[in-house]
Amino acid sequence: MGVEKNITIAPQGSWITQKGAYDFMSTKPTVLVTRKLPKAVEARLHRDYVPILNPDDRLYSNKELVELCSKADAILPCHTEKLTAETIAILPKKIKIIANYSVGVDHCDLEAAKGRGIIVTNTPDVLSEATAEVTILLMLGAARRASEGERMIRAKQWHDWSPNFMVGYQVTGKRFGVLGMGRVGQVAANRARGFDMDVHYYNRNRLCSELEDGATYHDNVEALLPNCDVLSIHCPATPQTTGMLDAARIALLPDGAIVVNTARGGVVDDNALILALKSGKVWAAGLDVFNGEPEGIHDEYLNLSNVFLLPHIGSATGDTRDAMGYRALDNLDAFFAGKEPKDRVV
Ligand code: DGY
Repeated sequence: MGVEKNITIAPQGSWITQKGAYDFMSTKPTVLVTRKLPKAVEARLHRDYVPILNPDDRLYSNKELVELCSKADAILPCHTEKLTAETIAILPKKIKIIANYSVGVDHCDLEAAKGRGIIVTNTPDVLSEATAEVTILLMLGAARRASEGERMIRAKQWHDWSPNFMVGYQVTGKRFGVLGMGRVGQVAANRARGFDMDVHYYNRNRLCSELEDGATYHDNVEALLPNCDVLSIHCPATPQTTGMLDAARIALLPDGAIVVNTARGGVVDDNALILALKSGKVWAAGLDVFNGEPEGIHDEYLNLSNVFLLPHIGSATGDTRDAMGYRALDNLDAFFAGKEPKDRVV
């Protein structure tokens, strides 16, 4: 972060040079951090910025968020903050960057941010391994009835063993279908190869052969689905992907397929998936993300024994949560040094 000459004063006492880079020898930029972050990340924030922290980790209302922004030069939010067009419209003018602590940016109205000249960044790459681990956990948990078995033991209802007891689905050697072969999808595919699974994928753009690594490309979702013994969802939630896994597309899956979702709940039509889980068309599902999460999850999921549920913990490892914070801070550092942030989305 260079120190520049020709300083003019910016709003709220922050100093900004004529080139647009903040002068860290004088006032540090103030960053509104909406949730409690890992210790090491907050330490770096203290070193380089004036952070407005949230030690109680309380979820702010949009009104509180906008009020707190009046003291800030930048926001570092999580996907829990819904930065709607209405909220973005009333953010103070001096907020010029939203440096997300997330890879997904569906909680931000990107068009609204663009319209106000606000840069939005995310944290790609650093959570791919952790999320792929949860993908495999969900696949195996769903296939091998982990949730059912665990609940049975805790309820002291395990009374016998027989060849027919808790028989599940063996994924080894089956087809692993990836909907959205971005960074997480690619790592998940590699992990699935560890189970000798044959990888099929759909992505808007075909990968180069090195990244494809023998996977079979399908140039549309409908062509992918009949090849998925396990369908793993890795595409972002956008207006185009909302409700993408609907009844018509579920009908294209092989009978008894498994559905795994570590991306966003919005990609799935819950009613259609629940019907398919009840009829056995879909053998089981492993879900880490939901429409209406956390409290508005479709009730029927809670009553189905063939669903393995996790509370949006794809990226929840110490290493990854630190790395997400550093990546968000790298983006802020670049912005305040007058450079292009590496992970600029708009
Ligand atoms: C992400 O980074 O998008 C994860 O879902 C956590 O927010």
